[in-house]
Amino acid sequence: MTSYHTVVIGGGINGCSTAFHLAEKGKRVLLLERNTIGSEASSAAAGMLGAQVEINSKGAFFDFARASRAMYDELVPKLESYSNVQVDYIKNGMLKTAHTDEETARLLEVLAFQQKAGEKVSWLTREDLQKKEPGLEDETVQGALYMPEDGQVMAPYLTQAYARSAVHLGAEIMEHTSVFSIKKKPGGYEVISGGRAVEAEHVVMAGGAWTDLLEGDIAIMPEMIPVKGDILSIRPKKQLFTSTIHAPDVYLVPKKNGTVTIGATEHPASMEKQVYAGSVHDLLKSAFVLVPGLAGAEFNQAWSGIRPQSADGLPYLGSIDNQGLWMAAGHYRNGILLSAGTGDWLARTICGETVNQEWERAFSPYRKQTKEGVSSEAYH
Ligand code: FAD
Ligand code: GLY
Repeated sequence: MTSYHTVVIGGGINGCSTAFHLAEKGKRVLLLERNTIGSEASSAAAGMLGAQVEINSKGAFFDFARASRAMYDELVPKLESYSNVQVDYIKNGMLKTAHTDEETARLLEVLAFQQKAGEKVSWLTREDLQKKEPGLEDETVQGALYMPEDGQVMAPYLTQAYARSAVHLGAEIMEHTSVFSIKKKPGGYEVISGGRAVEAEHVVMAGGAWTDLLEGDIAIMPEMIPVKGDILSIRPKKQLFTSTIHAPDVYLVPKKNGTVTIGATEHPASMEKQVYAGSVHDLLKSAFVLVPGLAGAEFNQAWSGIRPQSADGLPYLGSIDNQGLWMAAGHYRNGILLSAGTGDWLARTICGETVNQEWERAFSPYRKQTKEGVSSEAYH
């Protein structure tokens, strides 16, 4: 039976990043994907690296998110050179808009905590916004937080870049290979997929919203909550704004290729793939209120993806048997942003390096979970 240092199950962005980081450490890695690389949530994402825009409270999650965001300046050129895939990384900054007195008060609290944490963030008044982004014409906007360090990528391209870079460094990838079961055996595991089995010292379960369907000698398996998101893209005739605009009911991401990604709905407990007509209606309506000039854009496409959510909204990163069976799942709304930190952290901990103890506790699959931990906002 062929033997690997690590078998990664799932070719989404987190499985691919983990395979890449392990391959970079010289480990023999096999990644098994039941469909094709990036065929689920990782190609549906808007690609925001929104550490500040999406996380509104201090703690391990915020620290992990901004550490992950900080990795892209060095990581992207490396991945692009290994893989020959351009990931359209730009640091165009994000605006988080307030439309009511309550929202303004809440965002001013976020401003205070993020400034205290040492992040670049400022409050733009309505007048400041009119100068910075004249295309943003919504008269209900009272002001906005401006977060210049939050950038973006094309999520499907970044997923491909991790995968191809992993292969460049010696990892093997098998697509159209569904893993059914994981069996414990002396010194490692047997991973059973279709008609064959492979051996590994370590196994990383990175199956996104489907991770909890894996079977075998698995000590605990925290529940995954699927949260379907509908999302779409349009192509304006000219650029109407440069920063990503994050409003309470919609976000607008101006991509490097001239399109604008408009997202995204949240439909908890749904694994349906079809895009609801009502979602397209609601997202476009909200977008046109924010930036009326977008109504003249060409419709490009609409699609959907299934976010993998944990009960408290934080990812599961760590061993689930105190040995070699690892989990990298539950990244919910932030799996693209967190992919760099996830792959790096998993590779380090699998290789026995010292890792951040606070993050180890916070993201442990064994942690006690409370709903209060869900830190990001619901859309729709
Ligand atoms: P997935 O991408 O779902 O990959 C899991 C893979 O595992 C799949 O390819 C699946 O086929 C495979 N698999 C499952 N079971 C098996 C098995 N038994 N055998 C083999 N393979 C298996 N995040 C951000 O950071 N920024 C954003 O702007 C953003 N926007 C989003 C917008 C939308 C509409 C959605 C839906 C999500 C968005 N997200 C965003 C969240 C992000 O997409 C996810 O958190 C991330 O893609 C999860 O990646 P993953 O690798 O964990 O899972
Ligand atoms: N982070 C954006 C989304 O999940 O829709």
